[in-house]
Amino acid sequence: MEFLDLPQLASAAGSVRLPGSKSISNRVLLLAALADGETEVRDLLASDDTERMLEALQALGVGVTALGGENWRIKGCGGSFPVKQAELFLGNAGTAFRPLTAALALAGGDYVLKGVARMHERPIGDLIDGLRQLGADVTYLGNDGYPPLQLKPATIRPGGTVSVRGDVSSQFLTGLLMALPLTGVETTVDVVGELISKPYIEITLAIMARFGVTVKREGWQRFVVPAGSVYRSPGTIYVEGDASSASYFLALGAIGGTTRGGPLRVEGVGRDSIQGDVKFAEALAQMGAVIEMGPNWMEARAPEGGLVAVDLDCNHIPDAAMTLATAALFAKGTTTLRNIASWRVKETDRIAAMATELRKLGALVEEGEDFIRVTPSTVKPAAIDTYDDHRIAMCFSLAAFATPLRINDPKCVGKTFPEYFQRFAEVTRAAPVIAIDGPSASGKGTVAARVAETLGFAYLDSGALYRLTALAARRAGVAWDDEGGVAALTATLDVEFQGEEIRLAGVPVGDAIRSEEISAGASRVAALPAVREALLFRQRAFNRLPGLVGDGRDMGSVIFPRAALKVFLTASAEERAMRRYKQLIGKGFSANLPDLLADLKQRDERDAQRSVAPLRQEADAQLLDTTQLTIEQAVDQVLAWFSAGRQ
Ligand code: DC
Repeated sequence: MEFLDLPQLASAAGSVRLPGSKSISNRVLLLAALADGETEVRDLLASDDTERMLEALQALGVGVTALGGENWRIKGCGGSFPVKQAELFLGNAGTAFRPLTAALALAGGDYVLKGVARMHERPIGDLIDGLRQLGADVTYLGNDGYPPLQLKPATIRPGGTVSVRGDVSSQFLTGLLMALPLTGVETTVDVVGELISKPYIEITLAIMARFGVTVKREGWQRFVVPAGSVYRSPGTIYVEGDASSASYFLALGAIGGTTRGGPLRVEGVGRDSIQGDVKFAEALAQMGAVIEMGPNWMEARAPEGGLVAVDLDCNHIPDAAMTLATAALFAKGTTTLRNIASWRVKETDRIAAMATELRKLGALVEEGEDFIRVTPSTVKPAAIDTYDDHRIAMCFSLAAFATPLRINDPKCVGKTFPEYFQRFAEVTRAAPVIAIDGPSASGKGTVAARVAETLGFAYLDSGALYRLTALAARRAGVAWDDEGGVAALTATLDVEFQGEEIRLAGVPVGDAIRSEEISAGASRVAALPAVREALLFRQRAFNRLPGLVGDGRDMGSVIFPRAALKVFLTASAEERAMRRYKQLIGKGFSANLPDLLADLKQRDERDAQRSVAPLRQEADAQLLDTTQLTIEQAVDQVLAWFSAGRQ
């Protein structure tokens, strides 16, 4: 499984141009396809969900032309799709599946609509019930009430009143409303139950109006699509930035946009937006964030005393509210998000997923059928699962302000924001790392520890992890070349670094990991790819504030490739053998200089020649040859490079 490891973050500041809104993009595409005339759609969201819609429209015979950038020309079909028989695959795109079902059922034709397995678990029965009242012929090909679906040509009986439930997903009402102008007859839609996610209906009505159809509305219970409603191309239409995507950056600003940096600005949505999720900014302000807004931009900064918990009804911002659940990790008190039952029928059961993953980070979480309650506690590093849900991945990136963490399957953000993590990296600053690599006995451990002490940074002796692994394997009777056996042992290695002291299973190891025998074992287990893989996140979890000095062989190349400073620290083999000799004698071990030199050369060779993470000087690493240098001189040189790099 792919993953992305995030270091702990220090601050957030800058500006992000948002990708187009998913909700607006897919509505605009469908109405442009149904309209009379050609529409130029500008700033369309480039993502999985919009690709599914574009593919479907092409399969239905709609003229779709890429104009370059995120701009497209759609040749409308005037309410009648040229292709009358097709099988459409719509992935996990609810914003494509629901409205297309309604439009195709009323437009007439022989169609099969399918999606990924999760799409087949997301209910659609309420929409189908509404369409059947108009005479549509829809068959469930799997379970009743769920996709996949078969649509057959039918005699549509337009007019009158159609009832549709509004308390499971507002997309059913959206689908029905967008399709009804195809009938040409005045039709009334009565909403049964309390309509949820009302702002999404506002978006639907606003876009229908841009295409020339004005729906009459009586509160949120009754909608009338007038007779003679026909979609007409508005010519050119611009898609707003995605307000739900804005929520992650606003939250980043609210947590990390402090006096050191910030504010964090998003461009593409603001006060004039038609998207309900801009109201997320108000929720964040209630948590104490300092928010400013213009017509098409918003920005957020952290408040002086930090964020405070809120108790909120989130029905109007179901998607953006997920961002509040992870922002709650940084708020004083217990945050309760209510009226979010729709989370359970989204890309995944989002209440269950958020609760599970927040608990992994150490938070105290209570979940109910339609609420989630989060109390922050000591946060610990964790690997976050994302359930093929873009929003889970993006929400949890915020937690990096509290701890280094791993995001599994980060590419799932492609559903709405393929470049999310690039933008994220551009506007955040991570806890700095000084990576010091070099051969055995080059003095890098001593230099690294002193640099760390001077800067007040943590120190990672990565070699000790391989030494501990070799020792643990020896104690458990696992052979050093048994890759699977050693890797399994590594995954559960109970190691604690406390200042100078290292504990294995709670017991200080002292010099037991420094013997020549364990040195040889460490070099052997370090050559096993599965062992290195198992130790990867454990090492990255040291990348915390205020900073880290790590020493080893692959600090700069593999573990911390974005280190603020990389140093390749070495000395002649003879000088290193002499240093090792003195060290061993000083500790009361017996030693023989020629043997030490031969062993050292052999180990150098193995560390440099192995296929995974071989020891080598990175192109962007500073070379520090300490053969002629004292420890103080070497330390001063590293500190000088580091401070020069920070200017
Ligand atoms: O730095 P050291 O001598 O304590 O390292 C012990 C062994 O672990 C050495 O043979 C190289 C290996 N090692 C590694 O492969 N990668 C690291 N980052 C650190 C050490």
